[in-house]
Amino acid sequence: MERNIVWQNTKISKKHREELLNQKGVVLWFTGLSGAGKSTIASFLEEFLIKRGKLTYLLDGDNLRHGLNKDLSFSYEDRKENIRRVSEVCKLFQDSGIITIASFISPSKEDRYMARNIIGDNFIEVFVKCPLDVCERRDPKGLYKKARNGEIKDFTGIDSEYEEPDNSEIVIDTYKNSIMKSLSEIIYILEKKNLI
Ligand code: ADX
Repeated sequence: MERNIVWQNTKISKKHREELLNQKGVVLWFTGLSGAGKSTIASFLEEFLIKRGKLTYLLDGDNLRHGLNKDLSFSYEDRKENIRRVSEVCKLFQDSGIITIASFISPSKEDRYMARNIIGDNFIEVFVKCPLDVCERRDPKGLYKKARNGEIKDFTGIDSEYEEPDNSEIVIDTYKNSIMKSLSEIIYILEKKNLI
């Protein structure tokens, strides 16, 4: 199919926006089971960065599924489409110079690889690690209980697989460590990489 679409070059680039904001456009991609602590830590990180004068934006799976992705289920194909759309959104946010924090279960290695490819430079994967039984005990939204009762199907960790990452730039263990310890580990690595 001939699409007749040509990329439009504009005067202002990412570099200009980064200079204006005095920061780097980065995507911090949080992956992990429901209840592992992704949203909690992402939200603390956002608060920390804003206090430091950095412009951030948090894209959260639950929230995006209220709007942009409200037509998507939790089937393998729909999760892939969820991650594809969100990756494209992250790419735009990153290009705007914003420190973008993406918090999605993103259970498939292939999909996380796709995200990394779509987004390109300055993609930092943060594996929020926590054993399934601990997430299930925490069950902050009562969803594990529903999944065990058969009220929710395709629930990650129960009847839908979570493929653990083995090449994340940052791994935090929210079972062994406090929120503040996890947060300071992330900040330490971002500083070391000269990203914040
Ligand atoms: S992803 O797998 O496609 O990356 P996403 O991060 O957008 O998932 O959404 C996960 C959130 O949706 C969970 O935090 C949970 O609150 C809710 N949810 C509802 N049904 C499911 C399900 N079947 N599996 C996982 N999460 C679910």
